[in-house]
Amino acid sequence: MISTRDGSPTLYSERFNQHYHSVHGAIQESQHVFLDMGLRALADRPQLRILEMGFGTGLNALMTALQATMPVHYLSLEAYPISQAQWEVLDYGERLGDQALFLAMHSAPWNVPVQLRPNFILEKSYTTLEAFPGTQHIDLVYWDAFAPDSQPELWTVEVFSNIYRSMNDAGILTTYSAKGDVRRALMAAGFQVAKVPGPPGKREMLRATK
Ligand SMILES: C[S@@+](CC[C@H](N)C(=O)[O-])C[C@H]1O[C@@H](n2cnc3c(N)ncnc32)[C@H](O)[C@@H]1O
Repeated sequence: MISTRDGSPTLYSERFNQHYHSVHGAIQESQHVFLDMGLRALADRPQLRILEMGFGTGLNALMTALQATMPVHYLSLEAYPISQAQWEVLDYGERLGDQALFLAMHSAPWNVPVQLRPNFILEKSYTTLEAFPGTQHIDLVYWDAFAPDSQPELWTVEVFSNIYRSMNDAGILTTYSAKGDVRRALMAAGFQVAKVPGPPGKREMLRATK
């Protein structure tokens, strides 16, 4: 575990040689890229189906459960879950006001929807993206795979085309990456793509709309 510049912790993946979040600030990054650019942009929806690529530490899920004002079904894919020893020492819940909820998210069983709050259902899918059979009617996608240089196979036109098909019209995909190759792949999959201001330490990021 390491401390990032906003004081919040993140993990390092030996498998992918990547940090789970920006070292400029884990909570700040999640807040900006996924909550402010994603959830907040759809604040007028009566309900949301969210798809997350990479449950990881559970930080995005926790922040979404704490900030959503509408009923949310949160489907999160994860092929290599962090261990209990790793999630037990992460203090995101303490920092954000509900450590019991954070622990409940990690303790929740895989592959079944679990109602964790009146307005929040978490469905963690223990699968690779490649083996995931797909889903439907997604309003908001948090594209939080490790970086394209580390996992190029998760940032392709083919992958984004499948995601596009799983989404409702006017749905949004938000990601921290601002890479030209990613922007072009999203556009080739059919999305309208905008470069928007990035989180601290990063000038730009991408937001794609169906
Ligand atoms: C940047 S981290 C996600 C961070 C997470 N959203 C959070 O809030 O902490 C990327 C995640 O994708 C997972 N992952 C990597 N390759 C995958 C694959 N092919 N299918 C599904 N998950 C994968 C990793 O294990 C890791 O947890």
